[in-house]
Amino acid sequence: MNIPRRQFFRAFGALGLGTLFGLRSRAPVTAHEGTVHSASAVTLEPFVDALRIPPVLKPKVIRKVDTYTMTMRAALAQCHRDLPPTPIWGYNGIFPGPTIVAKKGRAVSVRQINELPVCPPAPGHEHPGAMLPAVHLHGADVRPDSDGHPRDGIPFYGGFRDYQYPNQQRGCALYYHDHTHEMTGHRVAMGLSGMYLLVDKSTEAKLRLPSGKREIPLNLQDRSFNALGEFQYSLTPDTLEMGFHGDMLLVNGVVQPYLQVETAKYRFRILNGSNARIYKLALSDGSSLIQIGTDGGLLQRPKPQASIEIAPSERIDVIIDFSAAPVGSQIILQNLNGAGSTGSIMRFDVTKKVRDTKKIPAVLLPWEEIPEDQSVGLREFRLARQTVDGVLTWTINGQAYRMDNPPLATPTLGTIEHWKFINPSNHPHPMHLHLVQFQVVAVNGEPQEASDYGWKDTVVVPPASELTIVVRFLSHLGRYVFHCHNLEHEDFAMMAEFEVIAPTTP
Ligand code: C2O
Ligand code: CU
Repeated sequence: MNIPRRQFFRAFGALGLGTLFGLRSRAPVTAHEGTVHSASAVTLEPFVDALRIPPVLKPKVIRKVDTYTMTMRAALAQCHRDLPPTPIWGYNGIFPGPTIVAKKGRAVSVRQINELPVCPPAPGHEHPGAMLPAVHLHGADVRPDSDGHPRDGIPFYGGFRDYQYPNQQRGCALYYHDHTHEMTGHRVAMGLSGMYLLVDKSTEAKLRLPSGKREIPLNLQDRSFNALGEFQYSLTPDTLEMGFHGDMLLVNGVVQPYLQVETAKYRFRILNGSNARIYKLALSDGSSLIQIGTDGGLLQRPKPQASIEIAPSERIDVIIDFSAAPVGSQIILQNLNGAGSTGSIMRFDVTKKVRDTKKIPAVLLPWEEIPEDQSVGLREFRLARQTVDGVLTWTINGQAYRMDNPPLATPTLGTIEHWKFINPSNHPHPMHLHLVQFQVVAVNGEPQEASDYGWKDTVVVPPASELTIVVRFLSHLGRYVFHCHNLEHEDFAMMAEFEVIAPTTP
């Protein structure tokens, strides 16, 4: 059953996606079976397009709930001055999707309408609903039926689903993205992701962090283009092992943009929205990135760093202080893990002298440690590449993901557990748990200072390493998934379920 599925994906991957879905009638660029199709057919000059900032959606207030409607659909997007418009799939037809700004304690409801082009049937798919898209709010504490479980796909064409987000958790940068069963990688690559900023005024207002035009979301993604401007995404044995890596870096949908800045402090809400690429961010003038937050919200205190690694779906909240930079200077946000076209992400052009009186506060948010000594147990998860039913695949505890798998963990509501991820493979795995924010307590047996990591929902388990987190199951009962956020690992099949169960009454 798995083998035809693989063959389908390979055939599928060999075509330009826009062509496959009938957006364009031109012939697809020939692809070569067995190679990583990550090299673009074009070279693109960096820093010629201005950074775009996705629009913030305005809600309709219905019975005190901020209510939004979004439509997933095919459209065209201009990714670079010298490229023809690129066929994308986007929330409201834009790439990346619009930003939602939510307030802590105030509920949000999002109706997601599916007007995506109808997909061809997938031979051998394990589940009839397999191709239906689901939308996951990454990092959010929500009920299972609003979590975008791949089982809860939205019907084609014009089907919809209402997602309810209570926003009771700490303020942080969340993001929404596609979570289609076995096809998340392809659909996110086509453009289906967007930012969701959850603001907690009660903790943030007094910090007077840079805001307004000086608070900017940056969604980092990598893509490859053919000469028609289409995204090249393919699933070859190499991409299935490494995950998809494009050779062009985009920020908010624009290849290597520039941003004009004033001599002031800026707050960047950075998301690694890439399928598989891990970036190491640094500034070309040697000044530091002042990290103030992580996936789950603000750190205890600011942490200046020369460079910061960020893996798929991780978020960092960073202040860059341009106040000492001379007008006319150009500072590049670099990716020290890359070279050539993957070595530079964007450029800041300092164009205007202003007086910036803002100070970065010494203390941001009191740290709340999950009481490790109250943990009721340790679960171990082994992350491996192995053959299951004759197919080389990614596994967790020997299991390749299928929607009818029994849960690999059944934590009890109200309890704290230790989870240890054991990675004997030679690839990093950014492991993500739905529903919760957790804390990192040990790497290779060495105890870690959890407050250094901050609140996390995704953490990289390095090659040939073990990493232990402590996690509290407080809010909801039911089935959720956890998985590697290298999206090709996730799709092929490094994902499992956990079910939060009710305590048994004595
Ligand atoms: Cu951002 Cu299940 O993922
Ligand atoms: Cu992985």
